[in-house]
Amino acid sequence: MKVAIVFGTRPEAIKMAPLIKELDRRKIEHTIIVTAQHREILDQKLEVFNIKPHYDLDIMQHDQDLFYVTTAVLNEIKPVLLKEKPDVLLVQGDTTTTFAASLAAYYFKIPVGHVEAGLRTWNKFNPYPEEINRQLTTRIAEFHFAPTEWAKNNLVREGIKPNNIFVTGNTVIDALLMIVDPKYQFPEEPLRSIDFINHRIILLTSHRRENFGEPMEQVFSACRYLVEHNPDVELIYPVHPNPNVQKKAKEILANVPRVHLIEPMEYKPFVQVMNKAYFILTDSGGVQEEAPTLGKPVLVLRKTTERPEAIEVGTAKLVGTDKNVIIKEAQQLLSDKSKYLEMATKTNPYGDGKASERIVNILLEKIH
Ligand code: UD1
Ligand code: UDP
Repeated sequence: MKVAIVFGTRPEAIKMAPLIKELDRRKIEHTIIVTAQHREILDQKLEVFNIKPHYDLDIMQHDQDLFYVTTAVLNEIKPVLLKEKPDVLLVQGDTTTTFAASLAAYYFKIPVGHVEAGLRTWNKFNPYPEEINRQLTTRIAEFHFAPTEWAKNNLVREGIKPNNIFVTGNTVIDALLMIVDPKYQFPEEPLRSIDFINHRIILLTSHRRENFGEPMEQVFSACRYLVEHNPDVELIYPVHPNPNVQKKAKEILANVPRVHLIEPMEYKPFVQVMNKAYFILTDSGGVQEEAPTLGKPVLVLRKTTERPEAIEVGTAKLVGTDKNVIIKEAQQLLSDKSKYLEMATKTNPYGDGKASERIVNILLEKIH
């Protein structure tokens, strides 16, 4: 069996890393292709997991648009697939790398295995363009690795044959358990000097395209208000490199006392910040999946989520991007200990850390 794995962004790298480690461990031939839809924040993850790609398509451009990313991936991956002729191409999640690479594989009639299949909002502009990237990847894929039963049922309802769907858990939990280290000490300022014991830390991450502009302004203004009105609260925000995000974050949050706007973080220190935070404000998919394992309440800064499981178990709440609603919900977590404790439970609906092992077992069984 000859496996090819393609990914291009930070979350895909984190979620593919354990699978690559498992292929290594089992000595299964595999080719690693990175599109480098992201550059710096992808390289950070390759380094921490010690992954050396065989092909680096190096496509990222400053402030790239969706047309560019889609066509660049298609054009650049074509000769690689032609040369390697893998038995299966593994893609992950919902990025434009995921969809465009799947399409390229389809054009060559190479079977696609979709890791983290079946997540849905059924709202094609939320998340944008990820909902459609995911649905189109489903149409193309041969093997659907669903993280949860909910995701599997979505695929069954869309007519995917149950025999081709495998509930494996999410590989993000494999990655998190590989990296989490409760004794980790921050080597650098400002994190090294933050008083995580006497101060309550809110961790913010925000980067979604559908939140650019006004919604993101509301989120940042709410964060500013929360810090200004709660003297024991500090905000840590590793700002995503997307220029649309950088600009607004600086406009609204730069130079506010107890607000730390920092560079995107390496995975290990980021996991430690999640672990030490009081709660998390995020529009990130991966963070929604990781936080329940660490027992951290999450307020989700989105109108919809394709990850309802954490909301159902009560560790996450969908709050949207309205400034007043965010302030009300966050203030309640800060002021009402019993409400806080209700959400701060270590219930993790997303996996047991063995998703990669299951995926490799299934590939070995299905591909001859
Ligand atoms: C992308 C994915 C999104 C995913 C997110 C994870 C698409 C359409 N979007 O969004 O699904 O949730 O990644 O973070 O696939 N940049 C850098 N350095 C980096 C990374 C990005 O400078 O290491 C800047 C560049 O100017 C780049 C821009 O960010 O053009 C946007 O990158 P892009 O991958 O198109 O979109 P994201 O918003 O990062
Ligand atoms: N992450 C990280 N450093 C950061 C912010 C996030 O390592 O500064 C990790 C986070 O733990 C999660 C993943 O990046 O595993 C999420 O990526 P992102 O939010 O960019 O994308 P999404 O999951 O929304 O697609």
